[in-house]
Amino acid sequence: MSGGMDHDRVIIFDTTLRDGEQSPGASMNLDEKVRIALVLEEMGVDVIEAGFPFASKGDFEAVQAVAEAVRNSAVCGLARATRGDIERCAEAIRPAARGRIHTFISTSPLHMKYKLQMEPDKVLERVTESVTLARTLTDDVEWSAEDGSRTEPDFLCRCVEAAIAAGARTVNIPDTVGYALPDEYAALIRHLLDRVPNIDRAIISVHCHNDLGLAVANSLAAVKAGARQVECTVNGLGERAGNAAMEEIVMALRTRHDLLPFTAGIRTEHITRASRLVSAITGFPVQPNKAIVGKNAFAHESGIHQDGVLKHAQTYEIMTPESVGLHRSSLVMGKHSGRAAFRAKLKELGYELDEAAVDSAFIRFKDLADRKKDIFDEDILALVDDAVLRGQTRIRLASLEILCGTMHNPPEATLELDIDGEVKSCKASGDGPVDATFNAIKALFPHEARLQLFQVHAVTQGTDAQAEVTVRLEEDGKTVQGQGADTDTLVAAARAYLNALNKLLVKRQKTAPAALSA
Ligand code: KIV
Ligand code: ZN
Repeated sequence: MSGGMDHDRVIIFDTTLRDGEQSPGASMNLDEKVRIALVLEEMGVDVIEAGFPFASKGDFEAVQAVAEAVRNSAVCGLARATRGDIERCAEAIRPAARGRIHTFISTSPLHMKYKLQMEPDKVLERVTESVTLARTLTDDVEWSAEDGSRTEPDFLCRCVEAAIAAGARTVNIPDTVGYALPDEYAALIRHLLDRVPNIDRAIISVHCHNDLGLAVANSLAAVKAGARQVECTVNGLGERAGNAAMEEIVMALRTRHDLLPFTAGIRTEHITRASRLVSAITGFPVQPNKAIVGKNAFAHESGIHQDGVLKHAQTYEIMTPESVGLHRSSLVMGKHSGRAAFRAKLKELGYELDEAAVDSAFIRFKDLADRKKDIFDEDILALVDDAVLRGQTRIRLASLEILCGTMHNPPEATLELDIDGEVKSCKASGDGPVDATFNAIKALFPHEARLQLFQVHAVTQGTDAQAEVTVRLEEDGKTVQGQGADTDTLVAAARAYLNALNKLLVKRQKTAPAALSA
């Protein structure tokens, strides 16, 4: 590890906006990426990987916008080991207070032979060339050995040494395919520390995928072995089974400080808020039993557990809900609650919204309070998330009326949509009220996208509960997820469909992300 740095400090490198966005369906637009980046910055994330600038104009602009907006975290862009990628990346991060170029090339026999079709010596040359070029454009360069965990250890040592000699300050050893086991991965990190002569001039980073459910365990084993940067994502989002979940890494370091005597600079009370925001924006629900951020992570169902917790919380709680920013669900407000109380509640729930956003959320809150007697924290979260999701859209729901039931066949939807500022209306029928609604959307805004998922969940209990609907659409191999919430399930369904459709329109503007090969 480089001189002058605190040896027990673990750098948190968040790649929700890059690797996380590579999850099929988890696309985010520019505004959404900036919003997430600002929350990550407030949490104290050290490095935010904002995207892959060469992949598309949209990615480039998003990295640039994050670099402009964020002041306290370093902002990083990904680049393959090519001049075009590296120069484009440098341009995107230029506005950053602290910008990083993260360049990578595959080093495993399998990847070199089949993916790159390059001899190891050529790959080694490219390591030097790419890092040298990146260093002419910025001081902070990270180099990654893609498929590092399946790389022949001595070749990996040579590549790492070359990258450091060319000026890389961070060398990342990804477990790209989530294949490693904790002991094995830790041994590889120790091997690098023992064998690479200039290793003290760089920080070793780890980047673990979760294909065998071991991403967090592998990352922590690597930290114990000497790695001092962990790459991770909020909610464990990422390619295939995802990346190591940031909230799990950070809370393990905090909760088991006795055996993991390292610190991360994360303000853990922001975890719940970040998790909810990422889930709302990507449309990826968090499973109820997900560690740290799942709905049930702090819920005690059995009588024995409840009794124990009431007597002494630590009987069944190894961390407090408050330490991750979770406030126990309470009956909050009703139709007589004012704007000040509403704003205070938003703050308590972790939302710092600007005046316009508070105004629009307050109008929706009042509307909800007219229709629903008891309003819980979850209701407020759902309506704020729904408002956040509908921030920048081309197609908006203006009105929806449905005729259905046993006496009316087939069900009929009368729909008004605001499309690019022009209100259009139509009637459509379908096999059920949801089908009729979606057919009406298709009639007003023709498209070829196919519905892959339609999922409804009740935000709270009771027949007046808000419905939260998730819709997944697929077009030309691109998938997007949308969400919508309302006490009327059909309105929620229409909102979710439109949210997905709006995302698809953004995605259409992107060129297909280049395959991750050098
Ligand atoms: O998983 C991986 O190897 C990556 C690299 C590009 C760092 O995401
Ligand atoms: Zn990855």
